[in-house]
Amino acid sequence: MSEWKRYTITAALPYANGPVHIGHLAGCYLPADIYVRYLRANKKDVIFICGSDEHGVPITISARREGVTPQQVVDKYHKMMGDSFKEFGINFSIYSRTSGAVHKETAQAFFRKLYDEGKFIEQETDQYYDEEVKQFIADRYIVGTCPVCGNENAYGDQCENCGSSLSPTDLINPHSTLSGSKPVLRKTRNWFLPLDKLQPHILKYLEQHKDWKSNVYGQCMSWLQTGDGLQPRSMTRDLDWGVPVPVEGATGKVLYVWFDAPIGYISTTKELLPDTWETYWKEKDTRLIHFIGKDNIVFHCIIFPAMLMEHGEFIVADNVPANEFLNLEGRKLSTSKNYAVWLHEYLEAFKDKQDELRYVLASIAPETKDSEFTWKDYQTRVNSELVGIFGNLVNRVLVLTNKDFENKVPQGRDNSALQAFISGQKDKITDAMENFRFREALTEMMNLARHGNQLLSEKEPWKTIKTDRDLTAAILYDGLQIIANLAIMCEPFLPFTSKKIFDMLQLDATSMAWADAGKTDLLKTGHQLGKASLLYQKIEDEPIAAQIEKLYATIDKQTADKESAKKEKMSEQKIAEAAAPKGEITFEDFAKIDLRVGTILTAEKVEKADKLLKLTVDMGYEVRTIVSGIAEHFKPEDIIGLQVSVVANLAPRKLRGIESKGMILLAEDESGKLIFVTPKEPIANGSIVK
Ligand code: 2FM
Ligand code: ZN
Repeated sequence: MSEWKRYTITAALPYANGPVHIGHLAGCYLPADIYVRYLRANKKDVIFICGSDEHGVPITISARREGVTPQQVVDKYHKMMGDSFKEFGINFSIYSRTSGAVHKETAQAFFRKLYDEGKFIEQETDQYYDEEVKQFIADRYIVGTCPVCGNENAYGDQCENCGSSLSPTDLINPHSTLSGSKPVLRKTRNWFLPLDKLQPHILKYLEQHKDWKSNVYGQCMSWLQTGDGLQPRSMTRDLDWGVPVPVEGATGKVLYVWFDAPIGYISTTKELLPDTWETYWKEKDTRLIHFIGKDNIVFHCIIFPAMLMEHGEFIVADNVPANEFLNLEGRKLSTSKNYAVWLHEYLEAFKDKQDELRYVLASIAPETKDSEFTWKDYQTRVNSELVGIFGNLVNRVLVLTNKDFENKVPQGRDNSALQAFISGQKDKITDAMENFRFREALTEMMNLARHGNQLLSEKEPWKTIKTDRDLTAAILYDGLQIIANLAIMCEPFLPFTSKKIFDMLQLDATSMAWADAGKTDLLKTGHQLGKASLLYQKIEDEPIAAQIEKLYATIDKQTADKESAKKEKMSEQKIAEAAAPKGEITFEDFAKIDLRVGTILTAEKVEKADKLLKLTVDMGYEVRTIVSGIAEHFKPEDIIGLQVSVVANLAPRKLRGIESKGMILLAEDESGKLIFVTPKEPIANGSIVK
């Protein structure tokens, strides 16, 4: 579709079980807001949909932990998230929630249609049941030993140690965390979406979108190609918190949260536009775009499109520009470990500094790979870029115009070179925006401010005013036109700044659009300017040190807890070993090792060799054979489909007559137990480990 008539932009509905942190912002909400502001500046018909995801097991876990009801949890965090998004300038058309009545009715009607049309398969399965608390137990509430790596605290859906995705029945020695008792298997009936049968449609859909970001497309393909491909997935759960399953015989069952949540985008649109919502979900010339973080890719690119296709009345996403993760001071952000920069706390500590954080997060957004926020970097970027470049330009031009030209726009001269430069920048920014490369767009916007500063440094209007008033007028005229252009083009990133500039220029922001950017007569000669004030203040060392200290207090506590647990386990000999690591190597030595991610496709025992398994590993760019000495530790059938780290450029060697190309990385603990070094999330095969 070359000309889209309207846009439905969604941002992942955040779980209402904690406040918003900078990882959420950089991964999803800020890029979505930047894009929507850009579309609005282009006068596009756009709705921006978001709200709280109030169902699912994480909410019930938080409720248990805090000793309150799930409803109390979601009420608290829904308000908190909505308020802080608003204060931060995330300009949703609506911020709703999935516990509302419209949502319940919409999600139930969606399920019912698929049910009536026989789109689900009804299946009886064995599920764990806690006889003490008398309920089926959600996968997350079952803990046991991981069959892949031996971690004793693996969850029923995933082992956080080796990243394997598990079923509760895979766990060795399972126990219920609700009561601590050993759960029993009971038969239960649920409704499954037959993703295996739908795989060809999904594949066709994905193949029509090869233009998607490579991290997104790669992850989708690996879901389709790993193991036996897509598997039927239950769309209902035995749980008492969620949208009740609207069919007979489903008492005590709710919709799977990943069935209900994305339908939240539709129900929220209904709330926003009760009369016209269908246009935004059913017309083929509507462009649907989901902004999400990488952990949501499979749900938005495979499961939700499959649901929509099966339903039949709705459009599917034209793009899903998912971001990778943002880390904080060298570690993963974590809501449960309280390791984060929380938005509401930032807004409290750094009053009226929304754009400073927006700027830094947009500059370092994890668009193609994980990235890192540090407070020192925040301080440097604000002080040297926003204060030193952007703010400095605006201030100098306005102060000089006020001093020398009675605060009125002076007379310009021919400025075709400047005109060409500004429209060149506009084209670059536009192209980057259209293709979700917001970091690049921001850099080009700043390059325009840099150009303005260069112009002042070269032409020195504070000197020329003594000898050539007309020339000085022309220099400041150009400076003012650059500022007016910046006010338009910085708005998606820095909306508070943009508004301040428009006010200082006494220009009506609503009369200007993206189409006006690139012009050099936005301000007419003689136009009266307003009062200038500084756009940004320098960030001093003190508040930064306080933030760092606060984070380290969290880490210190965590580390102390972990260390004492670890020490208890480690034998003295192992402590001595750990304290005497191998000799230092140079970075060049390390860089020689080509470490890659691959997926084990097949595994079989090597005849007459007790220790060896022969593996074929999909490296993305080729499938190769690797012989590994792990036969005494893993059953071949347990490791098929597992993603592992591979030393890809190890010289081939023959083991029992089989040529082995590469080596699989494993960690070994003091008891000799082996654990695969495996990516925490699925990632495209062949991805470089560094
Ligand atoms: O990862 C999350 O926070 C989920 N609550 C996102 C849901 S997005 C959509 F499906 F609603
Ligand atoms: Zn494991």
